Amino acid sequence: MNTVLIGAQFGDEGKGKIIDILAQKSDYVVRYQGGNNAGHTVEVNGTQFILHLIPSGILHTGTKCVIGHGVVVNPAALLEEIAYLESKGVHVDEKRLFVSEGVHLIFPYHQALDVLKEKRRGRDAIGTTKKGIGPAYADKASRTGIRLVDLYDEGRFYRKLKENIEFENEVFEKVFHAPPVNFEEIFHQYIEYGRNLKKFSCDTIELLNQAVKGKKTILFEGAQGTLLDVDFGTYPYVTSSHPVSAGASLGSGLSPRVFDQVMGVVKAYTTRVGEGPFPTEFKDDMQEKIRSLGKEYGATTGRPRRCGWFDACLARYSVLVNGMNALAVTKLDILGGVEKLKICVGYRNGKKTYSFFPHDISVLRACEPIYEEMDGWSEEIHHVRRYQDLPLATRRYIERISQLLETPVKIVSVGADRDQTIFL
Ligand code: GDP
Ligand code: IMO
Ligand code: MG
Repeated sequence: MNTVLIGAQFGDEGKGKIIDILAQKSDYVVRYQGGNNAGHTVEVNGTQFILHLIPSGILHTGTKCVIGHGVVVNPAALLEEIAYLESKGVHVDEKRLFVSEGVHLIFPYHQALDVLKEKRRGRDAIGTTKKGIGPAYADKASRTGIRLVDLYDEGRFYRKLKENIEFENEVFEKVFHAPPVNFEEIFHQYIEYGRNLKKFSCDTIELLNQAVKGKKTILFEGAQGTLLDVDFGTYPYVTSSHPVSAGASLGSGLSPRVFDQVMGVVKAYTTRVGEGPFPTEFKDDMQEKIRSLGKEYGATTGRPRRCGWFDACLARYSVLVNGMNALAVTKLDILGGVEKLKICVGYRNGKKTYSFFPHDISVLRACEPIYEEMDGWSEEIHHVRRYQDLPLATRRYIERISQLLETPVKIVSVGADRDQTIFL
């Protein structure tokens, strides 16, 4: 069975943990979009791994990991991540990691542009991770991007890079009054990165289509979340790629016909890092309480995440646009001890009510959530491994989420560790 695993909220739902679990039974794990803006955490017997580009399946030696052409790759970050894994005893070689020759590369001028543009936006800043993601995808769409395969034709790479840097340096100088970047330095550095990545690079479209033919089990690892999708999210407060399930086809080169299951990961509450509308954001001391209990700080930037109640209106939208047919609910343990839990079931703006997620962010900003209230539970649930052993109120909360989303829950997570998981 081939599964696309996506984030159903604003990212950081706990995808890394669930991928790690499902990877055990997968032949391939494929990243299909985003870049090192992602931060996916996996905990195994108390040891923490944070992955940015390499699929979270890498911790299982029998699993092959693929970075599809839909991903934007900062080669320095990728090489660093390989070294990081090796230093933690995880061997990463060309038999386990395959990087598409077609990935677009992130260059230092993309990162510099990301920072400068955010600064220029002032109060309207998006709150990006400053990794150069937006500018790299913009170059891809403008047909000026440079792909991994270009590094293997020095003459072509030289010409493309020269053209890009000449243009960007003019922008730096004339628009931003910022220092230029150095062509020679970047050229040599990237030729060297290309050499180091050569053994991992291949035609992953062919590789994955062969895997499908051979009836292999493939797991697709979404990064970010549905509400950060450039088409389906709270535009312009989004990332520049397609975290939704359809992105798996676009970013891997496999037909939509190969996907059997779309599993959405939802956190038992909601978080968002960066700017943008967030209707159910806590306005009281719950903000600090949940942030500190849930350790809600960005895995990539360390920024505090904004926290709020579970938003079923938003998640229902996510179910539809992803075609979700399975759910994984994470971080239920963090809600223990909260006397009354709220779930947002719709929005109100004056006399108008919405049961569907509005597209206009100014409407969204003016909306008040319509809540329903449920009893919480006070018991510690970290140790629970069977669904029926969860407190009744916890089960009711999970079942209400499933009912509102009209989607069965297959996995419940009660702690960060691989073991702290309940299968239904
Ligand atoms: P991702 O980007 O979706 O992979 O999520 P992140 O790794 O950025 O953030 C999720 C955080 O929650 C990580 O620190 C995980 O280790 C942690 N986590 C995942 N599931 C659970 C859970 O059920 N309970 C608790 N307490 N932590 C969890
Ligand atoms: P994972 O995969 C949460 C957010 C940023 C910002 C917006 C645009 O760990 O869930 P970008 O740098 O992509 O141009 O920033 O998207 N963002 C994330 N938020 N989790 C992520 O990844 C994110 N990746 C980007 O905070 O609001
Ligand atoms: Mg994350």
